[in-house]
Amino acid sequence: MNDKIYENMLLRRRFCKRVALMAIAFTISFYVSILLFGDLKAPRVMNLTDLNRCPACYGVSVCPELYSNQVIIEGHTWSSMFNAKNIFYGYTKSNRRVVLKKLAHNSEFKDFDSKMCKTFNLKRNCRPIHLLNVTNVDEKLIKLVEYNFTWPDTEPRKGLVLCPYAYSLYDLVLPVLDSKKPQLDMINIWTMLSLNPEPIILQILPKSSGWPVPAYGGVCGRLEVVADEGEPLSSLTQVAWYRKLKFAKKILDAAMDFTFKHDRFRFYLMDWSLDNIVANEKDDITFVDLEDLIVLDKHISPGKDLPNWYQRYGRELIGPGFTFSIENMCKHHLSDHNLWAACYILAGDDDPYLYPIPKEVNSSRPHFDRLLNECLNGVDRFKTITTLQHVIGDMLMDEKIVGYGAVVR
Ligand SMILES: Nc1ncnc2c1ncn2[C@@H]1O[C@H](COP(=O)(O)OP(=O)(O)O)[C@@H](O)[C@H]1O
Ligand SMILES: [Mg+2]
Repeated sequence: MNDKIYENMLLRRRFCKRVALMAIAFTISFYVSILLFGDLKAPRVMNLTDLNRCPACYGVSVCPELYSNQVIIEGHTWSSMFNAKNIFYGYTKSNRRVVLKKLAHNSEFKDFDSKMCKTFNLKRNCRPIHLLNVTNVDEKLIKLVEYNFTWPDTEPRKGLVLCPYAYSLYDLVLPVLDSKKPQLDMINIWTMLSLNPEPIILQILPKSSGWPVPAYGGVCGRLEVVADEGEPLSSLTQVAWYRKLKFAKKILDAAMDFTFKHDRFRFYLMDWSLDNIVANEKDDITFVDLEDLIVLDKHISPGKDLPNWYQRYGRELIGPGFTFSIENMCKHHLSDHNLWAACYILAGDDDPYLYPIPKEVNSSRPHFDRLLNECLNGVDRFKTITTLQHVIGDMLMDEKIVGYGAVVR
């Protein structure tokens, strides 16, 4: 009798074991096949582009490449599910690394879509395609630019400020226009100005002309493709001080370029942070986040509303840290905003990138620290920066400085 019970128990246990093994095998094969062939492997291009929202999208220039699988997107839905920033990474068939950016958070898209019909006085349930028949896109564009300039403090400001006069917009966006489809272009431009002007800026300031911005691949629906330009400086804090100095020189050069290099416009960057500057293996730096920007037209004829236009505007002590007056920057033909901001991330109060300065540098070149402070608090930043550029240039040639390792904070 006992033998029988024992045998039954054994059989039951064996059965349970088999079921458990089968369940485990099934689960493993399920996940392996999903990882290999299923949607978990990579977010599908189709799901990222939102092409059905065009023409309320950024354009279609890179769609042929994306839809013929010439760009492979990495990562699986676990990360993309939590990818609030909407940034994806991939590589091209020729093995160039690219970054795919939706350029807005999902909630911003929702908000934009829910206001679209009302903005153009269309029926409440209008579809993006209906925008092709509206006649007042130009007017809406100018209104949007004017709003961003005079925005009330209570409302969140979105995107580009173009000043002092909104009509400069027509000249600004010339490099983005395609003469064959003016209405479509205007709706795309309106969408980018409403959500994120980055693709416009990357075409006005091409990397191929030496601007320290990502190489622009193009746009498809609501997705932008740019070259992966490296790692953010915020994760390169433990590198040799010499390397930091190299980056610092390039950051100062960029601040001057954004202020002076373009024939017609100045570009004041509003989001200076070590997260938004990346460096590649050649130690070139790139400003990757061009969402928040003031573009100033240097060539306007100032009206009575701009009595101080020809004076320079120097940053005043308006408050601690990163505060600035958009209004004042827009009332003067030249401001030192970029120069101050560059010095602030290198030497300001908030985790300054160049500090601590190695002791040996401080004792052999005490004026270096003094110059950085003068850039933060002095009166003539234009003069100080030029001196700083020379001093750093000299330091970079000094073999002793090349040898300094990382200084741990
Ligand atoms: N072209 C690029 N090359 C390398 N990294 C990039 C590039 N564009 C964005 N990134 C990375 O993605 C992060 C977020 O992108 P960003 O444009 O700054 O979006 P957000 O508006 O969310 O700050 C950046 O801090 C940077 O680390
Ligand atoms: Mg950023």
